[in-house]
Amino acid sequence: MTEAFSLDRQGKTVAAARPLIDPFGRGITYLRVSVTDRCDFRCVYCMSEQMTFLPKRDLLTLEELDRLCSAFVARGVKKLRLTGGEPLVRRDIMVLFRSLSRHLASGALGELTLTTNGSQLSRFAAELAESGVKRINISLDTLDAEKFRAVTRWGELDKVMAGIDAAQAAGLHVKINAVALKSVNEDEIPALMEWAHGRSMDLSLIEVMPLGDIEPERVDQYLPLSLVRARLASRYNLEDIDYRTGGPARYVRIKETGGRLGFITPLTHNFCEGCNRVRVTCTGTLYMCLGQEDAADLRAPLRASEADQLLQAAIDEAISRKPKGHDFVIDRRTQRPALARHMNVTGG
Ligand code: GTP
Ligand code: 5AD
Ligand code: SF4
Repeated sequence: MTEAFSLDRQGKTVAAARPLIDPFGRGITYLRVSVTDRCDFRCVYCMSEQMTFLPKRDLLTLEELDRLCSAFVARGVKKLRLTGGEPLVRRDIMVLFRSLSRHLASGALGELTLTTNGSQLSRFAAELAESGVKRINISLDTLDAEKFRAVTRWGELDKVMAGIDAAQAAGLHVKINAVALKSVNEDEIPALMEWAHGRSMDLSLIEVMPLGDIEPERVDQYLPLSLVRARLASRYNLEDIDYRTGGPARYVRIKETGGRLGFITPLTHNFCEGCNRVRVTCTGTLYMCLGQEDAADLRAPLRASEADQLLQAAIDEAISRKPKGHDFVIDRRTQRPALARHMNVTGG
């Protein structure tokens, strides 16, 4: 049998002899890592206002997170995205970015990036760029300061705007992510798009997903993107394009602005057949699908030995259980969220 990976004399993984392939033949080349479940915002679709967070002692250290990410890179993961919670609120997170950038330098990794709420970017944008980050995703659902406060509960629009300025000044390509929210930002979508495109940023619209109990009803938040697209098509020329980032968005070019608009449609158009990703939480739990409960503990095998054999075996076993896809539904009859955990646990 071919070895799944190579090990050096200390038993550390050094090179991919066999990539990670799931039971449906999908290659796993994208790892999303939630480095903290904490956040300085409380977005209404993501968290409840009263959240309990993990005790700090349960978290993997930055060294352990590095080892975990590196084990996946050695198995052919080409895209690494740090998420949260808010990744930039994790103490010393730049240490992890800097250390992971060695995989960019070696060519093993194609992209090191993050998804952020932007609140801390004024401080970190330049360092991120120095660590080899080229493209970042910033979540922003509205340009109206009062609405922004209502959606994020705790956020300040000015700080995020300053963060976007800092990111662009540092040479980072910025994509804006906006969750499409019924009666909240639905009338603002054209303005948000024109603003983003006017600043040379792509915009991706996202359908709200039923993860975790929240105070507002999901059904009152949910806005199908099929409807948004139809409305946009009555004002703009939308041209389907092949541009792909390795993420779930499908893009169009807007003729009038020249910019790209992405649609992330877990509800109206399932994209699971092309899934190339898994996610790890800050405690080392591997979720093989964002939309399913099944998970594998990687912290125990990581800590059981300084060598990577046990860890690699646990990763193989988990990937062999990757499900076909999610079963999200949002309607009035479905009272419970599809999943008990909130989005900040897995970082989307
Ligand atoms: P790009 O590299 O820009 O394509 O990023 P991305 O879309 O992969 O990542 P991002 O963190 O910007 O996520 C955007 C939205 O896509 C978030 O709401 C995620 O929850 C959602 N998303 C990412 N991967 C999956 C997935 O596998 N399934 C589902 N249902 N949603 C996903
Ligand atoms: N449904 C869809 N997107 C969500 N996000 C957070 N919670 C949800 C949800 N329930 C988005 C954030 C961010 C990305 C990582 O996930 O706005 O852009
Ligand atoms: Fe924080 Fe992002 Fe969740 Fe908002 S969506 S509360 S910014 S983790």
